[in-house]
Amino acid sequence: MMKLRLSSALTPLVGLLSIVHALDLTVANVDSVKSAAATIAYDMMTYYHGNETGGTPGLLPGPCADVACYYWWEAGAMFGSLINYWEYTGDDSYNPVVKEALAFQRGEDENYNPRNQSKNMGVDDQDFWAFAAMDAAEANFPEAGGDIPSWLTLAQAVFNFQKQLWDNATCGGGMRWQVYSFNPGYELKNTISNGGNFQLAARLARYTGNQSYADWAEQMWNWMEQSPLLQVQDNILYVWDNTNADNGCVDVEHFAWSYNYGTLLMGAANMYNFTNGAEPWGQRVQQILDGAFFLFFPQEYGGNIMTEFQCEPIGANGNCNNDQSSFKAYLSRWLAVTSVLVPSTAAQIIPKLQASAEAAAKQCVGGDNGKQCGRRWYANGVWDGTKGVGQQMQALAVIGATQMTPNIAPKSATTGGTSESDPDAGNDIDTAPEIKFAPLTTGDKAGASILTILIVISVVGGGIWIIL
Ligand SMILES: *[C@@H]1O[C@H](CO)[C@@H](O)[C@H](O)[C@H]1NC(C)=O
Ligand SMILES: *[C@@H]1O[C@H](CO)[C@@H](O)[C@H](O)[C@H]1NC(C)=O
Ligand SMILES: *[C@@H]1O[C@H](CO)[C@@H](O)[C@H](O)[C@H]1NC(C)=O
Ligand SMILES: *[C@@H]1O[C@H](CO)[C@@H](O)[C@H](O)[C@H]1NC(C)=O
Ligand SMILES: *[C@@H]1O[C@H](CO)[C@@H](O)[C@H](O)[C@H]1NC(C)=O
Repeated sequence: MMKLRLSSALTPLVGLLSIVHALDLTVANVDSVKSAAATIAYDMMTYYHGNETGGTPGLLPGPCADVACYYWWEAGAMFGSLINYWEYTGDDSYNPVVKEALAFQRGEDENYNPRNQSKNMGVDDQDFWAFAAMDAAEANFPEAGGDIPSWLTLAQAVFNFQKQLWDNATCGGGMRWQVYSFNPGYELKNTISNGGNFQLAARLARYTGNQSYADWAEQMWNWMEQSPLLQVQDNILYVWDNTNADNGCVDVEHFAWSYNYGTLLMGAANMYNFTNGAEPWGQRVQQILDGAFFLFFPQEYGGNIMTEFQCEPIGANGNCNNDQSSFKAYLSRWLAVTSVLVPSTAAQIIPKLQASAEAAAKQCVGGDNGKQCGRRWYANGVWDGTKGVGQQMQALAVIGATQMTPNIAPKSATTGGTSESDPDAGNDIDTAPEIKFAPLTTGDKAGASILTILIVISVVGGGIWIIL
């Protein structure tokens, strides 16, 4: 295996890197981190054709007739990861495509709810685009300009839209997964949607300093905490996937995914920082961290390598799908942010990010070019035979996360953030979709497929809970 120590002139070296068949990563060496990240980002973007003739800015290949497709939300997440990449490395090569995508997909109502994605539109889907807009605001990413609302305003518009989705009629509150009742999964109240809205509210509170967002975040946390989505057993916090409003949310789907822990962690860390370190937010941050460390950094693999344990290992219930293959990206990023917003957590988090980053780089040895990333980071350099946008994004996110410093902590309006605030953005948009437009029939059924996978996994592998 050839060892590379590259300079920081990133883009021109990408071609050179294609002749080697491994990424060499030493997290303590900034140049090594930058060149590994550049290579992985480049390969991730080979999946993106939205900026080519005939492409739609912001979309990854789809709709999902086969496995080589990606739902709308994952593209939003990918553009967010590229904003983080720019901050971690200083490489701005992708900024123009990111800006174009985030602007284009804002939709007719300028709240990341484009009409031709209505069949996919979950609260969580909207949230991942809102997170990318928040990433942009918190990084002072160049605004799109013209008549396009600021990044912060776009995120505020998502928040204002979602406020109307609070559903007091069932389960004492919370939000349903799907925005529209015509979508499969409308009956579910799931963690990534409610926890996503919680995170968005908490980040808006911290960025703007406006207490109304914090009150909302508190209300959402309180609802989730009393729902079966959050359960403490033997001192471990379990964050489960979803509960069903059709039966009054009396039970819960026993799946634990890294991004569900991540979104609660990020929200709680922002609330901790917004409240200047007030309890109970510090305790909540620690409790979420402890649960995440226990489940997603198994002792079996040394205790520091992040693992999506429900779908990665041989013998787990099948394979991670394209959504699940990206989940570790979000936990990686949100752990890194937590380490700066809640400084007392840094000593616990940093060794785990570093070990995971080095392990992830060793997974990037596959495919035709010998550097496609798999997802089984614990496999000690043996490629697991999988590749895709999610695998690239996860490796990129965890490698970048090792470069987090207080200097690039998310900005707020009081610490240099300049994105313009419009707390009323989108307040005139109502959520009555069936009246406004009918569901589209082309393309795939995003919601349905995730749901189907959950159900299939739950039928096939009902015993997963037992192994915990
Ligand atoms: C599309 O974006 C990529 C970066 O991901 C860039 O290399 C490429 O030149 C762009 N293509 C067009 C047609 O602008
Ligand atoms: C969705 O709508 C936008 C704006 O009307 C359009 O440009 C785009 O091609 C449509 N289709 C897809 C798949 O995004
Ligand atoms: C939800 O219902 C409870 C009790 O019925 C009520 O106190 C609360 O104000 C309602 N919340 C909203 C947002 O409507
Ligand atoms: C809030 O975050 C900043 C980093 O942006 C950090 O310097 C500060 O110590 C944090 N506040 C508290 C109370 O930990
Ligand atoms: C704070 O946020 C609320 C809710 O979005 C909004 O109504 C209010 O105008 C905001 N206040 C300020 C000072 O921006």
